Amino acid sequence: MITSSRLDPPVLVQPHARPSRPPALVPCWYIACASDTLRRGGVIRFDLGGEPIVLFRGRDTGVVRALPAHCLHQGVDLAHGDVVGDCLRCPLHHWEYGDRCERIPGVEGMPVRGRKPRFTTAERFGMVFLHPGSDPAGPPPGFSVADSELYVVPGRPVEIDCPWYVPVANAFDMTHLETVHRRKLASAPVITNPDPLSFNVRYSTRVIGDGWSDRTMRFLSGDEIRVNVTCAGGTMVVVESLVGRRRGFLMVSLRPTRTGVSIVPFFGVPRTATGSHLLSARVSAMLFSAFLRRDVKPLRGIRFPANYVDGRDSTIDACYRFLCQLPEHQQEEIA
Ligand code: FES
Ligand SMILES: [Fe+2]
Repeated sequence: MITSSRLDPPVLVQPHARPSRPPALVPCWYIACASDTLRRGGVIRFDLGGEPIVLFRGRDTGVVRALPAHCLHQGVDLAHGDVVGDCLRCPLHHWEYGDRCERIPGVEGMPVRGRKPRFTTAERFGMVFLHPGSDPAGPPPGFSVADSELYVVPGRPVEIDCPWYVPVANAFDMTHLETVHRRKLASAPVITNPDPLSFNVRYSTRVIGDGWSDRTMRFLSGDEIRVNVTCAGGTMVVVESLVGRRRGFLMVSLRPTRTGVSIVPFFGVPRTATGSHLLSARVSAMLFSAFLRRDVKPLRGIRFPANYVDGRDSTIDACYRFLCQLPEHQQEEIA
């Protein structure tokens, strides 16, 4: 006898239904701070997705390491610790940490020696980057030119009460270019996915605003601004622009925090033999900052509806779908 179930068409089971929102924390690089704000022997504290973390720079090698902020012993906040050699020493019973616990006074043979580091750190462009987990897919993102060709200035971090992915999606919101930034699209956006963890859009605009930054941009651009924006890994937005003959570079990290998102930008311009990059970097940083400031007010407190789809802006829709399919960070098993 043939049972009816054997005649039923096969049911296609989606191993992972598409979530209606992006993950709370994606395994991606985040900018922690400018390198020169963390000197040898220095310790800073911040949070990643609500988890308190300490970063410290070793006195001997100058290497930066990151740890969960609370001592494994009795939970002291390690931001109060001292950097001894290349380790961070808890002030209470002097357990010492590298990127894991390395020494307990009076204990031979460390019981926690086998643990994997919880975070990976790297320095690039004069910024300290942090990645959750011990095995990033690659280094922190860069630009289409060699790092050594760029002169970089850090921007001022901004905290906003909204989910991390909203400012990312905003970078691909073509409609608000006109209403918020006073730029009109001059060419249709071209969307590509260079790899499964990257989303790229190229477009050009002209300036229609009349503020000081608009007039400056109109003057510099000859009325065409070409923009190439990439979301790298989810929480890094990498922008390259061509304003007249001037190339500008911007990278923004969107780090989820307990209360919202911390937005950390830095700006770059090509180095020149004459040293003119020193001035053009300031001008570029000022213009990019003026551009980004316009987003802050509308994004404060914003909450995208579940299953958000714009329907009239295929670029932000594609970006949001990209963000929703990103992997969630899984804390690694302790080895
Ligand atoms: S609480 Fe840190 S060593 Fe005891
Ligand atoms: Fe914007």
